[in-house]
Amino acid sequence: MSRTLLVTSALPYANGSIHLGHLVEHIQTDIWVRHQRMQGHTVHYICADDTHGTPVMLAAQAQGIPPEELIDKARTEHVRDFQGFHVHHDLYYTTHSPETRVLAETIYRQLQQAGYITIRPIEQLFDTQRSLFLPDRFIKGECPRCHAKDQYGDNCEVCGASYAPTDLIQPVSALSGATPVRRTSEHHFFRLALCESFLRDWTHSGTIPPEAANKLEEWFKTGLTDWDISRDKPYFGFEIPGTVDKFFYVWLDAPVGYMGTFKKLAEERGLDFDAVWKKDSPVELYHFIGKDILYFHSLFWPAMLECAGYRTPTRLFVHGFLTVDGQKMSKSRGSFITAHQYLQVFDPEYLRYYFAAKLNGSMDDIDLNLKDFCARVNSDLVGKYINIASRCAGFLTKRFDGWLAPAFPESATPLLQTFYAAAQPIAQHYDDRDYARALREIMTLADAANQYIDQYKPWELAKQPDQAPLLQQVCSTGIELFRLLTLFLKPVLPVLAQRAESFLGVLPLQWTHAFPAQALTGQRIQAYQHLLTRIDPKQLDRLATLDQEPPTTPHKATPPAQTTAPYSVDSPAVTSLQGMPTTPSALPPLADTIGIDDFSRIDLRVARIVDAQTVAEADKLLRLTLDIGLEQRIVFAGIKGSYTPEQLVGRLTVMVANLSPRKMRFGESQGMVLAAGDGTGLYLLSPDAGATPGLRLK
Ligand code: MSP
Ligand code: ZN
Repeated sequence: MSRTLLVTSALPYANGSIHLGHLVEHIQTDIWVRHQRMQGHTVHYICADDTHGTPVMLAAQAQGIPPEELIDKARTEHVRDFQGFHVHHDLYYTTHSPETRVLAETIYRQLQQAGYITIRPIEQLFDTQRSLFLPDRFIKGECPRCHAKDQYGDNCEVCGASYAPTDLIQPVSALSGATPVRRTSEHHFFRLALCESFLRDWTHSGTIPPEAANKLEEWFKTGLTDWDISRDKPYFGFEIPGTVDKFFYVWLDAPVGYMGTFKKLAEERGLDFDAVWKKDSPVELYHFIGKDILYFHSLFWPAMLECAGYRTPTRLFVHGFLTVDGQKMSKSRGSFITAHQYLQVFDPEYLRYYFAAKLNGSMDDIDLNLKDFCARVNSDLVGKYINIASRCAGFLTKRFDGWLAPAFPESATPLLQTFYAAAQPIAQHYDDRDYARALREIMTLADAANQYIDQYKPWELAKQPDQAPLLQQVCSTGIELFRLLTLFLKPVLPVLAQRAESFLGVLPLQWTHAFPAQALTGQRIQAYQHLLTRIDPKQLDRLATLDQEPPTTPHKATPPAQTTAPYSVDSPAVTSLQGMPTTPSALPPLADTIGIDDFSRIDLRVARIVDAQTVAEADKLLRLTLDIGLEQRIVFAGIKGSYTPEQLVGRLTVMVANLSPRKMRFGESQGMVLAAGDGTGLYLLSPDAGATPGLRLK
């Protein structure tokens, strides 16, 4: 039966970079979505940045820009990072949207009319120097229980006590250092306790993981209290209708962002918004979330939806936290890895594979151990899976001009049967989000395929002319087994699968292609081309050095030396000279002054572009061969959107000739060409007539 699913990942905060922890969630979701699509279901996968709140407002102030500008830049970066990992959202939107505003207001009014909103004054700590009420995390003081100094306003990291910020002894504002004063203001509350019986039913109807049930029991036992959904100005958010200077608390409109984003997608694609969100909608709604935000998604969110007259989520898929070498990711230990940093060193599909191999659908934390990461990718993906194709394809190409045998040898029947029979259970493991188990079974199959090849030794058969038919059959069997493994791995490794599909000459693989009737026989395959490279453990050192680099902040005056991300196809090398090109037309601020010595360390040379080629798999890259008189250089430049190869060949430009070479998936880039750009256009620099390749700029 064909189903329609709306799937979300939690909305990342706009005031931070995407890191590997976020990717645990988005890769997990993306695999599940791709799996469902391969089954023939209709899936809408959406996400957005969570843009409101005090931290965003303060971060924007600190950078001297309006919050709207900060969140625009963040979104451009976040989209780039997710795309870099082949996480394909149908729409990656923002909560600061007209759609989310209208829906948040509508829901609020519906709650109000139904009697779920109450208003009463509360006392909070107020920073008189900055003129704002301080969120708990912006207050520090002495723990009222154990008297530890320098504790946050919500709980003590020493004794674990939870308290109200007004209980802190000698509180200070973390923003101004001033002693905050107590001040009273009116707040709006959602009366969660009125929803208790609904929530008890809802949470016991298979919507949340059984492991979460205990946590919920605790919450029910402590009693559901009113939820404070308003904040006073100054606040970056949506104003509460019918009030003055009161805003929705960020967690009120954040989940509404799921709806707002779908509303936007529905408008773009002509989908029926109401059909999805009305009560008892047949469309399935799944939220992938981390265990830290279970409270919001299992209590507030379903209660809001129910009380405002909408459908509730079908299920919450809750995952654990990413640790690195068994510990929480930490900037000081150098184990806080951003998506962007990772992509400067490694192929995204390595991480997709590694995370998938660890994700089992439970709420357990998952650990990244970088040595284990290298070993796993090399032994499984290269050693087992890719190996099958590389072992068989050579003989077929050399001896049979790429033609596959018309049929498989009888000796292969049991093995082939095992493969076809594995399709259904593997699909079930994906469905259960037990990717670890799916991959274990797939690798067991890969082992069996390799054993089969070992048993028939094509390299021996190749020496015996009378064994040619068997050689072709054995290698063709290997290729069919490889095709099936590719299909099974495709939700995890979509781009590698695409490369394999073109090598095999097959249409995009769907789960229905895992049947004997679809077997690949009697047709021609392409000559084998390298499908995946082993990880060189030396690359780990490079990741370690990147950890020392400051994160990419759009407003840094001095641009980082090298910010080309070989795997994030939309970050052209050249724009790194000016920081992130996120807002067209806004010119970046001038960089800090440097001395002539700093400048003279950069070896700028006139270069002639002697060759320019497109790079398969990279939307924006051209592979340039540059003549700089003394030698030739290969440079990958992100200028494909602005120039065709024909426009470039023969012309002169300027390159940075002493930039350390960078390994990219497509080869080594040995320098950088200079171009100016603002995110909308890109203009390659060229010297006046008469200049010759190799001249140094001074
Ligand atoms: N903005 C809220 C979510 C609003 S959803 C309506 C938020 N943002 S977040 O950026 O802090 O986290 C986004 C998601 O990433 C959450 O599901 C969170 O659990 C997940 N992760 C953040 N750090 C993580 C790890 N270190 N490991 C695994 N997942 C983590 O919460
Ligand atoms: Zn304490």
